[in-house]
Amino acid sequence: MGLWASQVTPRLVASGGEDEKVRALRARACEGLRGEVVELGFGSAHNVGLYPAAVTRVTAVEPSDVAWDLGAERRARSPIPIVRGDLDGQWLSLDDGSADAVLSTFTLCTIPDVHRALAEVRRVLRPGAALHFLEHGIAQDEGVQRWQRLIEPVQKKVFDGCHLTRPIDRLVEESGLVIQDIERGYAPMPKVMRPWVFGYLGRARRT
Ligand SMILES: C[S@@+](CC[C@H](N)C(=O)[O-])C[C@H]1O[C@@H](n2cnc3c(N)ncnc32)[C@H](O)[C@@H]1O
Repeated sequence: MGLWASQVTPRLVASGGEDEKVRALRARACEGLRGEVVELGFGSAHNVGLYPAAVTRVTAVEPSDVAWDLGAERRARSPIPIVRGDLDGQWLSLDDGSADAVLSTFTLCTIPDVHRALAEVRRVLRPGAALHFLEHGIAQDEGVQRWQRLIEPVQKKVFDGCHLTRPIDRLVEESGLVIQDIERGYAPMPKVMRPWVFGYLGRARRT
């Protein structure tokens, strides 16, 4: 991992994660979490404070030490225990069916082999448990999609492999998880931001 990806990107992401509107969407993604939760791409702990009281423990999967350290104060304020688990969502050491829920916010865009990571999510979820996701990805309008394809190579360089064109709903379905509810749409931001803010908020269950 280069200096930019290891040192700069986590700081850019950490400083951009606390917008009020984004936080409201994060809160909705966290609704209904309970028990043993695995958080994929935990980052700098931006979902801390939003986990429901029914969550007993969060196992954080996060490769970046810089992102992890930037979240230290937020983690310290969490009434719910948070432990750092595996470093790579593509290869989880957790047992099959051991998680009551998996949470992923703005992470499926970045994991290199997203199919592999979603297969791991499905494997570690207990039957009936769900992946809660809040992700950005390919927009519905062709005009915006064209911009997304154009910008994506630069985006990937600046934001540590972050894709703009991943079809999050299709990828989740292809993993064998069954989408229970999903909302798709642009976050309430200026039109010029559209390539970055087409969101997918939902839950997908392991049957
Ligand atoms: C855009 S950030 C989002 C962070 C956090 N989920 C949030 O909502 O603020 C993407 C995160 O995915 C992490 N990541 C990158 N590759 C990963 C992998 N293979 N497995 C798990 N997490 C990964 C990055 O280190 C980063 O923290």
